[in-house]
Amino acid sequence: MAKIKKIKLNNFRNFKKFELSFNSKTNILFGDNGSGKTNILESISLISKGRGIRNSQLANFIRKNEKKFLISSQLEIDNNSYDIDIFNDYKDDKYKKFIKVNNDSSKESLNFVYSSLSFLFFLPEMERLFQASPSSRRNFIDRFIFSYDKEYNKLINKYKKFIFERSKILKNSHIDLNWINFLENEISKHGLKIYEFRQKQLINLNKQIKDLNSLNKYEFKIELNIQDSFYNSDLNLDNYLVSLHNSRESDKILGGAKIGPHKSDIDARINDTFDASNLSTGQQKTVVLMLILAQCNFLINQKKIQPILLLDEICSHLDVYNRKLLSDMINNLDIQFFLTGTEKSLFSFISTNVNFYNITDL
Ligand SMILES: Nc1ncnc2c1ncn2[C@@H]1O[C@H](COP(=O)(O)OP(=O)(O)O)[C@@H](O)[C@H]1O
Ligand SMILES: [Mg+2]
Repeated sequence: MAKIKKIKLNNFRNFKKFELSFNSKTNILFGDNGSGKTNILESISLISKGRGIRNSQLANFIRKNEKKFLISSQLEIDNNSYDIDIFNDYKDDKYKKFIKVNNDSSKESLNFVYSSLSFLFFLPEMERLFQASPSSRRNFIDRFIFSYDKEYNKLINKYKKFIFERSKILKNSHIDLNWINFLENEISKHGLKIYEFRQKQLINLNKQIKDLNSLNKYEFKIELNIQDSFYNSDLNLDNYLVSLHNSRESDKILGGAKIGPHKSDIDARINDTFDASNLSTGQQKTVVLMLILAQCNFLINQKKIQPILLLDEICSHLDVYNRKLLSDMINNLDIQFFLTGTEKSLFSFISTNVNFYNITDL
């Protein structure tokens, strides 16, 4: 299992030169707004595929008026130590992210680190997850899938690429039928797989939530479902292809594709009665924390993966329910935590094995 032992930032965001060593259990970063707490969580999240917790453009990571950022971290994976460097460089006229493991950038080394590390995170905007756009909810679930299947983002990217190619062709006055048939076939195959991944993920979450509720006194029962007028259990390659074919005319006018997993929403039914969008922001935070805890249990028990939790501004709306959830996570899970908040005193309910870092003073 992986733990982050140390992180050194050079020209990353607001940090010129910065270094912190971490506790293998709980790390609490506190300090004024704008001191760089979220930036530190972001730098940790970059030790993985992708562009980190904010999905930011690479250029934004580089400290203003500088050319290159460097995140050097020390990881402990199954009692061995690894030095990981992450930096940007120019390739094909744009910035690209590079990663080196013990100074080696071979695919094997990278895959080893990617498969050993898994992050789950909470961001303040998730307090409105069920009032935000459907894409926020899709991304939330997709990141859960990515937490145990590092190839899943490739599937999503390919699917989007095929949709984009089909849109381009539909705009032409002369349509190459062979090419569009090929694309629709690929869209259907990839689309079905995405539906299947998401459906499985939601079934797992629903089950884990039930188990959690049978052992603990949490505020909500939660039932997640895909909401999508096109998706049903009879959907297969043949009827998917027919539907895509039939929507060519309208897709030509409106652009994109009107059916498929990129149009799905995820709905969350609370206590069998109402939708989570009716909850207050603090209550939505309870639901999100329950889902994160459920996913932790799923990863640890079913996938034998020990995630690292990055919980940003976690102490707002911390009523008894959210406090219990947070203490249950920290006390019951043997994984590493990074928490942020504006004041040290907000975290006084967490006592064991904690390091505090005052970011304002650094
Ligand atoms: N590329 C950059 N260069 C310099 N400063 C940056 C860059 N990107 C963000 N910042 C600064 O980082 C600060 C925000 O840090 P953040 O981690 O969001 O703070 P908080 O402690 O509130 O979470 C802001 O003051 C912002 O101007
Ligand atoms: Mg912040």
